[in-house]
Amino acid sequence: MVKAAKSQFVCQNCGAVAARWAGKCVACGEWNTLIEEAGVAAAPGSGLARASKGRAVALETLTKSTDRIARIPTGLAELDRVTGGGIVPGSALLIGGEPGIGKSTLLLQLGAAFADAGRRAIYFSGEEAAAQVRLRAERLGLSAAPLALACETNLANILATLAEGKRPDLVVVDSIQTLWADGLEAAPGTVSQVRAATQSLIRYAKAQGAALVLVGHVTKDGQIAGPKVIEHMVDTVLYFEGDRGHQFRILRAVKNRFGPTDEIGVFEMSDRGLREVQNPSRLFISSRETDAPGSAILAGMEGTRPVLTEVQALVSPSPLGTPRRAVVGFDSNRLAMILAVLEARAGLRIGAHDVYLNVAGGLKVREPAADLAAAAALVSSLHGAPLPAEAVLFGEIALSGAVRPVGQSEQRLKEAAKLGLTSAVIAGNGGELTAPRRLWLKRVETVSDLVAWVAGLPRQERTGVKPLLRPVTEG
Ligand code: TYD
Ligand code: MG
Repeated sequence: MVKAAKSQFVCQNCGAVAARWAGKCVACGEWNTLIEEAGVAAAPGSGLARASKGRAVALETLTKSTDRIARIPTGLAELDRVTGGGIVPGSALLIGGEPGIGKSTLLLQLGAAFADAGRRAIYFSGEEAAAQVRLRAERLGLSAAPLALACETNLANILATLAEGKRPDLVVVDSIQTLWADGLEAAPGTVSQVRAATQSLIRYAKAQGAALVLVGHVTKDGQIAGPKVIEHMVDTVLYFEGDRGHQFRILRAVKNRFGPTDEIGVFEMSDRGLREVQNPSRLFISSRETDAPGSAILAGMEGTRPVLTEVQALVSPSPLGTPRRAVVGFDSNRLAMILAVLEARAGLRIGAHDVYLNVAGGLKVREPAADLAAAAALVSSLHGAPLPAEAVLFGEIALSGAVRPVGQSEQRLKEAAKLGLTSAVIAGNGGELTAPRRLWLKRVETVSDLVAWVAGLPRQERTGVKPLLRPVTEG
């Protein structure tokens, strides 16, 4: 009797295999992630007993002079910045991001740039038909680029195509979730399929020295859909951030075996594709309303680059028993902490207010240096006093209420001066700083200093909103 391939239950989040279905994965604790996948029939007698005798490998020293990593500049300066100077041949890069954020657009531009530079680039599209890709290329003005295009989702066909002709320098697969391997019965997009496809493609790329770029979808909460596992398999993971309502797109490295992980690349989605933004600061603060309370400019750092962004806050009395706290582009725990410190150390009464905090432009601010700008925006909104239009702020707030200095202060100040700002509010005990001469420095030691400073600013007349409906009167 032939034994059927045993089915197994694979967690779509962490890849753990279970023999029985369960509501919760015992390995990672996620709910409803176990999916039945027909397993590969286990080879009889598999296990260590059958393992072949090993071969000793040559051991090397760390000091051995190795060639520096050869990188191929992509032709897109912002992408080069994020990857650490270009794409490394023989490496695998994963680009994640929400649908419609611009992954396919970026990769089409990348492929075309490679092809235009005389390199062989192949673009496998598993999601769109050739006509759709062509239409996009036309829109981007890239139709003439000698980029090889194929619409294929079968892994074996892709590998066979790659084996033919000249060795490609760049292979783009859009997206890894659409691929399927013959040998597996699981549906495309499941962990086993994605893992198998990624493994084969990476093996090909490493053996041939081709750069592999994979597109990965992300789930609602921003993780590469299902397979966290492929993040471990590739060399570089980039995430596309920003919301579709804005034209800014931020490419962030979250893992990079060949370069830094904290750099961002800033793009603008235009009618002719993604355009690089050389000076993001100018862009992020250009549309700021300077006379409204609750707006502060943060001098932040993204990797090695200072970036000025606007932090907006709205604090208003809440009609609800449990006031709302909402953030966009900011950490909600961090906001809760700042509010608690303002209440406990500066005596502000915010407990019964709704609080909204928004980082304009779609940037996600993560560094603690943003605390002071967020606090200033909150206090400014609460008091109804606009902050000076030409001031930047940065500094970390401690639970004690102290404002602490942060790294790279001089670079932040220099960027502020470069953009024509005239003052900076910074931590009180930051030691000597060589600030640009045009910049006036205001030092705050504690959140109470900050509150006192904002309280001294002229308040804006509250513009009353006229009621649309006349009140109903008796008689
Ligand atoms: P796309 O690259 O298809 O996103 P993804 O592959 O991440 O799903 O981007 C599609 C969006 O970008 C779509 O909403 C239209 C917009 N877009 C432009 O605004 N200008 C352009 O030149 C192109 C090609 C797309
Ligand atoms: Mg796409």
